[in-house]
Amino acid sequence: MPSFLIPVETAPDETRVAATPETVKKFLLLGCKIAIEKGAGIPAGFEDKQYENVGAELIPVADPQAWGKADCVLCVQAPSTFLLEMLGSGALLVGLLAPYTNRSLLTSLHSKSLSALALELLPRISRAQSADALSSQANIAGYKAVLLGASALDRYFPMLMTAAGTVQPAKVVVLGAGVAGLQAVATARRLGAVVFVSDIRPAVKEQVESLGGRFIDPPDLSEKPAESDGYAKQASDAFLAAQQHQLSDHLSEADVVICTAQVPGKRAPRLISEDMLDRMRPGSVVVDIAVDQGGNCAETVSAEMVVRKGVKLIGASGLPSTVPNHASSLYARNLLALLQPFLKDGELNLDFNDELIAGCLISKEGLAHNSDLLQTGGAN
Ligand code: NAI
Repeated sequence: MPSFLIPVETAPDETRVAATPETVKKFLLLGCKIAIEKGAGIPAGFEDKQYENVGAELIPVADPQAWGKADCVLCVQAPSTFLLEMLGSGALLVGLLAPYTNRSLLTSLHSKSLSALALELLPRISRAQSADALSSQANIAGYKAVLLGASALDRYFPMLMTAAGTVQPAKVVVLGAGVAGLQAVATARRLGAVVFVSDIRPAVKEQVESLGGRFIDPPDLSEKPAESDGYAKQASDAFLAAQQHQLSDHLSEADVVICTAQVPGKRAPRLISEDMLDRMRPGSVVVDIAVDQGGNCAETVSAEMVVRKGVKLIGASGLPSTVPNHASSLYARNLLALLQPFLKDGELNLDFNDELIAGCLISKEGLAHNSDLLQTGGAN
């Protein structure tokens, strides 16, 4: 019977938890033993008692004995080195492990002969959808980014006809129409804004329009940025320059700009320059959710709001943690969906040839997989 451990998250400002009473119950039915550290679910609104009632064992925080006998740790972010050192060799770690940047994690995995699945690397294919934690969390970020923009804006979002006259709807520009961007379009539309969207993948035009957004066609250059597995490839400097030129007019009329453009494993494309910010209206707002990947907008600072010539620049990091109950519920279901096919007859047997497992495996008993990660992701 595999022993699963659910820790209290130790990363600063992390409020999510990797298992909910709902998923604990399902793991138990699949023949697992679940130990959860006391208080692990409280920031996300799940009481210890709820876990106990479905059959989990409550354990003290950072208990060396409990960590030593865990076969699998389900986490949101990677546990500290101190905790990883307590794991027995061969244990499996599953979570959002920041494989592009977390060098100390790779060292611990190696020195303790641990296996690890980094959910960031899950291939974006149909079969992986229910386990796609990046998508479930980016969806929340797209939604919350619009709410932050709306609450910082000095205007209404919807068109209003009042006795004092008519108020025109806000103009929102969304950069990047992936998971977060499309949710931002939907949320801004629900609030009544007029929404313009820029993406380098022409394939998303239809999705944007089906949500009521207006697609800004990419610059008409002979060189077009490529796409694979549902992700964009990096655009050339010439393409980005042409795109900036095209966006500058849109931004000069925008009330809120939501920045979500990214190419996985690369620094976020810089789409808004200082010159473009100079043309924005004082009182307008830029919400940059790609800030921790280098930012789509000049001068955004992670977890801060900077006011530049009257324009509010919000460096929105950690948004899923601001909606921890739903973020945890969805994330916990992603983990269950990933592992469930490999839990049979009370045993956890990962198939390392399975496309999903092979895609997100970063260490197999201490041996690095996808070892090009730190080189390719160095820009982050
Ligand atoms: P995604 O890969 O689904 O979408 C990114 C989109 O950007 C793609 O449609 C891509 O074609 C587009 N793109 C790439 N280069 C572009 C360019 N030059 N111009 C316009 N569009 C371009 O990514 P997802 O999951 O929507 O995440 C978006 C960003 O949000 C990422 O940087 C991610 O790390 C970040 N994020 C931030 C969170 C927060 O709390 N701040 C939480 C979750 C995600």
